[in-house]
Amino acid sequence: MKFRNIIWWVLALGVGYIVYFSVSTKKRMETVGIIIHPSGQSFAGSARCATCHADIYKSHLATAHFRTSAIADRATIKGSFNPDSNAFVFNTHDRMVMEARDSGLFQVGYTDQRLRGAQSFDIVIGSGTKGQTYLHWFDNNLVQLPISYYTPNDSWSSSPGYPTDRFVINRPVPAPCLNCHSTYFKTTYKMNALPEFDRSQVIYGIDCERCHGPGMQHVLNQEKGTARKDIKDIINASQLSRRQQLDACAQCHSGINTSLKPPFTFFPGDSLAMDVASFQRYDTTATAEVHGNQYGMLAASQCFIKSEMTCSTCHNPHEKERGNIASFSARCMNCHQQGHEKVCALSGKPGQAVNGQCPDCHMPVRPSRKIAFKVANGEQKAELARTHFISIYPEQSRKIVASIKQLATH
Ligand code: HEC
Ligand code: HEC
Ligand code: HEC
Ligand code: HEC
Ligand code: HEC
Ligand code: HEC
Ligand code: HEC
Repeated sequence: MKFRNIIWWVLALGVGYIVYFSVSTKKRMETVGIIIHPSGQSFAGSARCATCHADIYKSHLATAHFRTSAIADRATIKGSFNPDSNAFVFNTHDRMVMEARDSGLFQVGYTDQRLRGAQSFDIVIGSGTKGQTYLHWFDNNLVQLPISYYTPNDSWSSSPGYPTDRFVINRPVPAPCLNCHSTYFKTTYKMNALPEFDRSQVIYGIDCERCHGPGMQHVLNQEKGTARKDIKDIINASQLSRRQQLDACAQCHSGINTSLKPPFTFFPGDSLAMDVASFQRYDTTATAEVHGNQYGMLAASQCFIKSEMTCSTCHNPHEKERGNIASFSARCMNCHQQGHEKVCALSGKPGQAVNGQCPDCHMPVRPSRKIAFKVANGEQKAELARTHFISIYPEQSRKIVASIKQLATH
């Protein structure tokens, strides 16, 4: 073989090797990139849904669901790193300072001037509607950081469950916490050990595929144009039974009384197998615990018992609707108007304003007994939550009537 030919062979092999290498690297990267649900179905990621469902995708980005967990950075952490407002004081010697360093964002403990330790903010939990708490990776485990953020005061607070007068960092994050606050974390269980999470197999936020199931097959079928009307490749909640629709929300919205299934295995369409008897265990009095149990409270209400309502009767899961009480009231009126269900005895009396304020009197905001944040001056702030036990609250109604009348005379 002539020398020139050898050169060609070497070159050809070399190019071939480079081509092979880059193709296989790309494949490997794609394989690492694909997240597979324990059922064997693959997630596509909501960015892929955007090409065809642009409107839903866009409005969903603003929801508390989408923003309920994220990688921690200056944009997702709501608390301040400015020197005048970046400390939480435990006692006259100990304090925690939130520091933005070149290497990342940290909660740094000091006793007087002595550095006690620094843990990075790695994950944000909570949209910040009411507050946020932060998680830190220890190898493949997660631990909750001692300092949280309390939205009504726009200040740092101690994390619920942590002491407020001294340094401690000892609250490992259990899988159910992530199950309610994200789409997916690949989780491994070991005997007598903390659950381990695979940080390359995580989907932050409660995204399309948490409510519609992993969507890769649907995306591929639609992209290739091979979708068949008679084969369902994605779950549409509106075609499920009432029970199934309710359970798809109740898996996260019925407090701690829920699913016996391991985290991240519940599929929309599954049943939580909560029978009528277990509804009755819910405390539905006006003083019941309001945090996180919208399902239990609603299920005890006359509206729910005497109609076929689901959560979607009042909520559009693709939109941020918080604060729009008039539009919620319009949904009450879909049933409560002349010729349909009972009408409000007060309606029209203190003025038309009543018609746009149904939830203010019949679903008042109540303080939680379980969830409280301690802010810097030692004050205890209970979380405020909207009761879903729809009922008549005479005292609350008197207050609202008074405020409507006051507004009318001004
Ligand atoms: C290439 C375009 C395309 C992409 C990408 C896409 N879809 Fe669709 N999707 C469609 C079309 C078209 C329909 C209507 C199909 C029908 O009615 O048979 C549809 C229907 C649906 C439905 C209703 C199904 C039903 O049976 O009524 C849901 C839910 C849905 N898509 C969710 C998603 C999610 C979640 C993603 C991302 C994981 C996604 N789609 C990505 C094109 C797409
Ligand atoms: C995977 C768990 C999960 C599922 C499933 C889920 N939610 Fe949520 N939902 C949450 C969490 C967590 C929050 C609080 C998010 C935050 O503010 O950080 C929330 C918040 C909300 C809010 C308050 C929104 C706001 O603007 O503050 C509404 C309303 C709501 N969910 C309704 C629903 C409905 C209806 C369904 C079923 C279609 C549903 N959720 C399914 C976990 C879930
Ligand atoms: C919290 C749960 C939840 C999330 C998150 C969610 N959906 Fe839905 N989606 C539903 C429910 C419930 C329905 C049925 C609503 C009804 O009963 O009318 C639905 C209906 C749909 C439909 C069919 C009906 C319609 O409105 O066109 C499509 C398409 C859809 N969703 C796409 C998406 C996409 C894309 C995303 C992410 C950007 C997403 N959904 C996120 C719960 C969710
Ligand atoms: C059974 C489901 C569930 C579990 C488990 C759960 N949460 Fe939540 N969480 C919710 C729901 C639902 C809301 C919002 C509705 C409410 O306040 O009733 C919420 C609200 C929050 C908020 C306030 C978000 C905001 O801005 O409004 C934070 C912070 C939070 N949870 C942190 C955690 C942490 C940390 C854990 C685990 C140690 C945890 N949650 C476990 C369902 C859950
Ligand atoms: C899907 C239809 C439907 C919707 C939507 C609805 N309700 Fe009802 N509601 C009913 C039915 C049915 C009853 C029982 C009437 C009866 O006893 O004859 C009821 C009863 C009530 C009662 C009396 C409760 C009691 O314990 O005596 C109040 C108050 C009420 N609803 C307020 C509301 C408010 C406020 C909204 C909106 C936030 C609302 N409803 C939305 C169907 C509905
Ligand atoms: C200012 C407070 C207030 C507002 C706002 C309000 N209600 Fe009421 N509602 C009451 C009170 C108080 C009663 C009990 C009246 C009585 O029994 O004399 C009541 C009674 C009811 C009942 C039971 C009627 C019956 O015959 O048993 C229904 C249903 C109802 N309201 C629905 C609504 C709807 C729907 C809206 C919004 C259009 C609304 N309410 C707005 C205070 C209010
Ligand atoms: C009859 C109407 C109605 C139904 C049905 C309903 N909700 Fe609500 N929900 C409301 C209203 C009104 C608010 C207050 C919205 C606001 O403050 O802007 C609310 C608020 C919420 C919030 C925020 C709670 C807080 O304390 O800030 C969550 C979470 C929620 N709903 C979940 C659900 C779930 C899950 C279901 C089904 C089990 C459901 N809702 C059914 C009317 C309803």
